[in-house]
Amino acid sequence: MEPTPLSQSGPDDADLFSVHGRTAVVTGGSRGIGAMIARGLARDGAQVVIASRKADQCRAAAEAINASGVRGHCTATPADLSSPEGCQRLAAWLAEHHHSVDILVNNAGTTWGAPLEAFPTAGWTKVLGTNLIAPFDLTVGILPLLRRAGRADRPARVINIGSVDGINAPPVGELLLQRRQGRAAHADQTPCQTAGGGAHHRERDRPGALPD
Ligand SMILES: NC(=O)c1ccc[n+]([C@@H]2O[C@H](COP(=O)([O-])OP(=O)(O)OC[C@H]3O[C@@H](n4cnc5c(N)ncnc54)[C@H](OP(=O)(O)O)[C@@H]3O)[C@@H](O)[C@H]2O)c1
Repeated sequence: MEPTPLSQSGPDDADLFSVHGRTAVVTGGSRGIGAMIARGLARDGAQVVIASRKADQCRAAAEAINASGVRGHCTATPADLSSPEGCQRLAAWLAEHHHSVDILVNNAGTTWGAPLEAFPTAGWTKVLGTNLIAPFDLTVGILPLLRRAGRADRPARVINIGSVDGINAPPVGELLLQRRQGRAAHADQTPCQTAGGGAHHRERDRPGALPD
């Protein structure tokens, strides 16, 4: 039997990745990976809320997404998720403005690199607060909204963005908590070398070829 050409495989192909009518929250959606996720979800029809600290950049990111011809829509709301209070405020805002949340992407993340002996407690607290505690607090904080969205055949989703640096232990005597990737991060070489040093870190944390 002749295989069915891909173009005739079904009327729903165009909607394969549709999230039309769903509400998605992307923390740290103002730039980087979060902005890419937010744009993708809005492109495929979702009502997306992005949250990050710098209000102007957050709003500009939402406007850029909306101006790019997406099927859905993006809204910005400023939030500092490094503290439980910040997470509670965002949860309260979401409860006030949205009936339910289908997709929560805990993407906001921060980093702090320093030799172990010089690593400040404030830096450790900031990184843990944003990267580890906030995803828990925010998920629990909007549980009623997630439960309202969830159905037996289509549960609400919580997507936590992590880093391989959480799996692979850094070299002894150094702490390096996440680096950015890509060309834009080229300028990060100085703090990266200060923190970890050597080609190993640069190659591991920045997939893709970077010019010397
Ligand atoms: N890029 C990589 O190579 C890589 C690798 C592995 C994992 N990841 C993970 O991917 C996620 C995103 O990384 P990225 O490289 O795209 O980061 P990024 O470009 O630095 O963007 C971080 C985003 O989080 C927001 N943010 C930071 N602190 C926040 C806070 N306290 N409250 C609310 N929002 C905050 C930032 O906006 P404001 O500064 O305005 O708050 C920004 O929107 C992180 O969780 C990271 O661990 C990245």
